Order: sequence, then C-alpha cells, then structure tokens
Amino acid sequence: MTEPSSYLTTTADAYDAVAGLYAELARDALDPLPLDRAVLAAFAELVRADGAGLVAEVGCGPGEVAAHLRDLGLEVFGVDLSPVMIDIARRTYPDLRFELGSMDALEVADGELGGLVSWYSVIHAPPGTVPSYLAEFRRVLATGGHLLLAFFESEGGPVTAFDHKVTTAYRWPLDELARLAGEAGFTETGRMLREPREDERFRRGHLLLRKAG
Ligand SMILES: C[S@@+](CC[C@H](N)C(=O)[O-])C[C@H]1O[C@@H](n2cnc3c(N)ncnc32)[C@H](O)[C@@H]1O
Repeated sequence: MTEPSSYLTTTADAYDAVAGLYAELARDALDPLPLDRAVLAAFAELVRADGAGLVAEVGCGPGEVAAHLRDLGLEVFGVDLSPVMIDIARRTYPDLRFELGSMDALEVADGELGGLVSWYSVIHAPPGTVPSYLAEFRRVLATGGHLLLAFFESEGGPVTAFDHKVTTAYRWPLDELARLAGEAGFTETGRMLREPREDERFRRGHLLLRKAG
C-alpha cells in the first residue's frame, strides 16, 4: 500500500502525466449518467435551499464537475493536487476559480463552505488516511453544510485496492464509508448505489451527508 507521505506526490505525478487525455474523456462524461446527475442536482438543491454559500469541488481534475455545479446555480471553486489538471481547468472554464492544493489542507476558513463535493477523489487516499480527509471537510463546512462523496463501491467485500488506470485506488463498502463519516461528525442525508454501465468495471457509490452541529 502507498504510504501517506508518498501518496500525494505519486497521485499528482500520475494525473499530470495523463491530464490532457483525461480532460478529453471527462468533458462529456456526465451526459450518459442520469443517476449521477440526479445526485449532483439533489446536492445543489439542498445547498441552495440552505441559502447556497460557497461550494468546493475537491480533486476537481479538469473541472467538468465544478462547471456542472456552476450550471446548477452554485458558486463553486475547484482544488486539485495536479498542476497540469489545474492549468487545463483554468483554460477550459475561465469564469471559475481553480486552485492547486491538497484536500487535506484546504486554504479555507473554518465553517466557510455551504457545500463540498469529492467526486472520485478520495478514492486514491490510503484507507487509513480517509478519516483525516473527512475531518478537513468537516472543518471547512458550516454547520448543516452538505458533503457529497462519489466513489467505487466494493460489492460486499472489504476496502479493496485495485488497478485504477491512473494510479492505485480503493473500492469502499458504502456502509463503511458512511460509518467513518458518522464518526467524523456527519449525518447521512441519503445514498445512491448504481450498477456499472457496460463500459465500467465497478458499482458506483454516492453518499450525501450533512455536517452535524
Ligand atoms: C479520478 S480524478 C476525478 C476528477 C474529477 N473530480 C472528475 O470526476 O472528473 C481524481 C482527482 O483527484 C485529485 N486528487 C487526488 N488526491 C487529491 C488530494 N489529496 N488533494 C487534491 N486533489 C486530489 C487527482 O489529482 C485527480 O485530478
């Protein structure tokens, strides 16, 4: 298993190397995924219903999910470890703010955000480090703020490493991630599990959570 200290460098380098191709594939990736778009729409509606507020998409890659959230009426910015990804995101969506950084040390004040989305970005974190990410997400969210996690689901098995095309990633049991989120101070709003399409390998898990008071 990759040690936490080297994981950030390994992940940034791996995404830098494939960023151009990844961005091309990601551009319209949400179009054939109505259930995924429904989860993002539900998240956006919940944030708007609570008076909106700033939203971070952490591990934003080339920025298409951030742009989708902007189209859903949210004030959103993106953060990513990969300088090449951030460069592409800035050029593709010049109206949005994208920052280089790690999602375990966000340059955001305590309680500043109304929402935070981690769309397939915690998947690369060594499992033992995931509580520290959830703690950082809790720190930056306002009380009652919304968190959306999207990830590969482990289909009944334990947390499992797999050969993700870019760099090692982990499949999570939905209940296990929900339990860790609960321990980190989140309450569950809802969850969505969908079967893989023909061009996908694994089930997809989505957790909608809220920062408890
Ligand atoms: C599978 S891609 C997802 C990109 C985008 N959210 C999407 O759905 O297209 C994972 C992204 O998370 C970023 N990432 C992984 N660990 C990160 C960390 N600790 N902090 C910030 N970004 C991270 C990677 O650089 C990569 O761009």
